[in-house]
Amino acid sequence: MENDSSVLQIAAEISAGKNFREIDPGLIRHLVKTEMQPNESEKETIKRVRSKLHQISNAYREGASNYQDLITAIRQSDNSLTSLEAAKPLAIELMKSHASTRERIAILDVFYSQIFAALPHIQSVLDLACGLNPLAIPWMKLADHFTYEAYDIYRDIALLLNVFFEKLNIRGKADSMNLLEEFPQSECDLTFLLKTIPCLEQVDKNAGTHILNQIRSPYAVVSFPIFSLSGRQKGMKVNYEKHFLEIYDPQRWELERMLFPNELVFLMRRK
Ligand SMILES: C[S@@+](CC[C@H](N)C(=O)[O-])C[C@H]1O[C@@H](n2cnc3c(N)ncnc32)[C@H](O)[C@@H]1O
Repeated sequence: MENDSSVLQIAAEISAGKNFREIDPGLIRHLVKTEMQPNESEKETIKRVRSKLHQISNAYREGASNYQDLITAIRQSDNSLTSLEAAKPLAIELMKSHASTRERIAILDVFYSQIFAALPHIQSVLDLACGLNPLAIPWMKLADHFTYEAYDIYRDIALLLNVFFEKLNIRGKADSMNLLEEFPQSECDLTFLLKTIPCLEQVDKNAGTHILNQIRSPYAVVSFPIFSLSGRQKGMKVNYEKHFLEIYDPQRWELERMLFPNELVFLMRRK
């Protein structure tokens, strides 16, 4: 059962499922390869991979099947949305459809004003495992004519973001990418990696170290959730902080720590 054709066949079967068809097929193949155990049935592998996909991604999608409706809503939204400021109410409505991005809605003003006050002018951003965070661009103090690149594993999230960028004349690009196997090659001033290291480490325990080592921008903002999706704290702040301090490279980066009500942030400046 462990040969390439069975991996492809199982991955194709999972990809065809209603809740998984928007996920980058590369991630599904990756999970089938890493999760499949010797001598187990195809059914058991499929069950475990689906459950892993739920933990690392589907759990964050709210009303998942409605992303197409949201895309239509942006397309049909008021054509007078000519400024980023004017787009804030629409952006907030859309952000409610991703559990992790939604948690930031109440603190968007303070979150991004504190982060951008600690940064020089930022002209270009790379947002990794972005969820719907790029919809928070109107709260970010970016330079004129900024560019924004964003990646997550969902093709419909990428489409939604591209439609939003187009609507607002943002020089942005979103795409699907499995960050466990690939890393974007473009140069940028600032990398966001928000609340994602714990997700990636559920698949590969070295993924946090690996992804931090690939960041090439002079600044990065890396964060961790303080509460689980069910609202429990479970010592997450202490444990994630300890873990991050073990995996970042102090020879390369100096840190500024910022604590928000539901998120622990490390602003990293290259030494
Ligand atoms: C906790 S959410 C954070 C979303 C966003 N960064 C934010 O803070 O609003 C984690 C995100 O990582 C994405 N993700 C999980 N595994 C991934 C992978 N291997 N490659 C790219 N994105 C991934 C999920 O789809 C989800 O949107």
